[in-house]
Amino acid sequence: MHSLRRKASGHLASLWLGALGVCGVLAALGFAAGVSLASDAAKTVGANACAECHKQETEAWKTSHHFKTFREMPRSKKANEIADKMGIRRIKSGTICLDCHYTVQQKDNRDEPVSGISCESCHGAGQDWIKVHSGFSGKTILFESKTEAAARWKLSESKGMIRPRSVYQIAKNCYGCHVVPQEDLVNKGGHRAGSVFELVSWSQGEVRHNTWHSKGRENASANAARLRMLYLVGLGVELETALRSIAKATARKAYAFEMAKRADNARKQLAAAAKAAPGVPEIAKIVELAHSAGLKLNNERRLTAAADGISAQLTGISEKYDGSTLAGLDSLIPKPDKYKGTARKPDN
Ligand code: HEC
Ligand code: HEC
Ligand code: HEC
Ligand code: HEC
Repeated sequence: MHSLRRKASGHLASLWLGALGVCGVLAALGFAAGVSLASDAAKTVGANACAECHKQETEAWKTSHHFKTFREMPRSKKANEIADKMGIRRIKSGTICLDCHYTVQQKDNRDEPVSGISCESCHGAGQDWIKVHSGFSGKTILFESKTEAAARWKLSESKGMIRPRSVYQIAKNCYGCHVVPQEDLVNKGGHRAGSVFELVSWSQGEVRHNTWHSKGRENASANAARLRMLYLVGLGVELETALRSIAKATARKAYAFEMAKRADNARKQLAAAAKAAPGVPEIAKIVELAHSAGLKLNNERRLTAAADGISAQLTGISEKYDGSTLAGLDSLIPKPDKYKGTARKPDN
């Protein structure tokens, strides 16, 4: 995100859309986006347990910012400035920072940060599903029927596994950290209010790990149909998150402008998507819902209702479509030169 700029309070008082030109403003907000940010520490097994079977995914992870933040963040000057302003002495010891920069595991009844943002931050804490999901490997069981496989996945999901096919849940998780919901952290601590996030470009670069299903021989980009789903659902979650943020904003401060700007941009982009993919009536419905509540303070009930409605539409889209019929979106989707960081090379 670009430099943070404060505006005179006179401007801030003349709230909302008229002031959307304000950029890179600070945030003031205190809510959680309806998603638990961190994986449940008591049920976290740690990335080493996944690495046993998922070597390539683990290698990809080890070159990412998500991995490196464990060592690098607490050593940076900026981190120490933020910690000082927050009255935090040890960043890795029971602080708010643990929510988003670390994977925390419970050991002897103590929560201990064990790595940066790892597998379970995105796929759910593993203890209850790790054995279930890998119950069929082709080695120990020679044949598994479709019904048995479906039952295995259903059970894994019921035990907290977030599978890649749940684009909506995956996206909610990213946004749970990439839009910062803590008012104090931003206002008092001077932490960024969030990332300029977009799901295709942010998931297909350094984060990409597409190896299991391609037998460990490559790390190909998601296919065209999948990219459309990531793009569309990601944009919807951007809008949903921004609306929830405005709903909970308490002060006529910069954060509210930032969130209103996010919401307005997202609904414009979704309006374009609705035109480009007329076969998906849900998109127009989302845009309509987004316009059903004013982007202003003291409007929690309407904004939350709009966000809930959008959430239901996105869940539906995520289940009903696979992207194959949404070619109209292709021209809107960021191209590889916009991907964040570099994907791990194929190892063959
Ligand atoms: C004992 C080996 C083993 C371990 C340990 C293991 N996995 Fe897996 N994992 C597998 C196998 C086998 C599959 C593929 C199953 C299939 O496609 O039928 C898989 C598939 C997956 C998938 C893709 C699921 C899908 O929807 O297709 C994800 C995500 C995943 N594992 C995450 C993890 C995470 C996170 C951990 C650590 C908490 C982990 N796995 C630990 C063996 C393992
Ligand atoms: C709600 C999630 C969240 C919490 C809580 C959080 N961070 Fe962050 N932090 C992020 C994200 C996301 C980024 C990357 C922002 C970007 O895209 O540039 C980040 C980036 C940073 C950076 C580097 C960016 C910069 O401004 O130079 C530092 C330093 C940092 N965080 C420190 C902290 C400290 C210290 C704490 C605890 C007091 C903390 N963070 C708590 C999500 C969080
Ligand atoms: C548990 C919190 C958390 C979750 C969940 C999360 N991130 Fe992050 N992500 C962060 C933080 C914190 C940073 C900044 C780390 C740093 O640089 O110190 C970051 C950094 C990144 C970066 C590197 C950005 C850069 O500066 O180049 C990418 C790309 C990224 N995340 C993509 C994703 C995607 C895609 C998802 C969801 C599939 C996701 N993240 C989920 C917390 C999270
Ligand atoms: C930042 C969030 C994030 C983290 C961290 C993360 N994943 Fe994933 N994972 C995803 C997303 C998103 C997909 C789906 C990607 C797509 O469709 O392009 C995925 C897909 C997968 C798959 C199926 C694709 C394949 O064939 O490999 C497996 C298996 C997997 N992840 C395992 C892991 C393991 C093991 C780790 C830790 C070493 C890990 N993931 C860390 C978000 C994450």
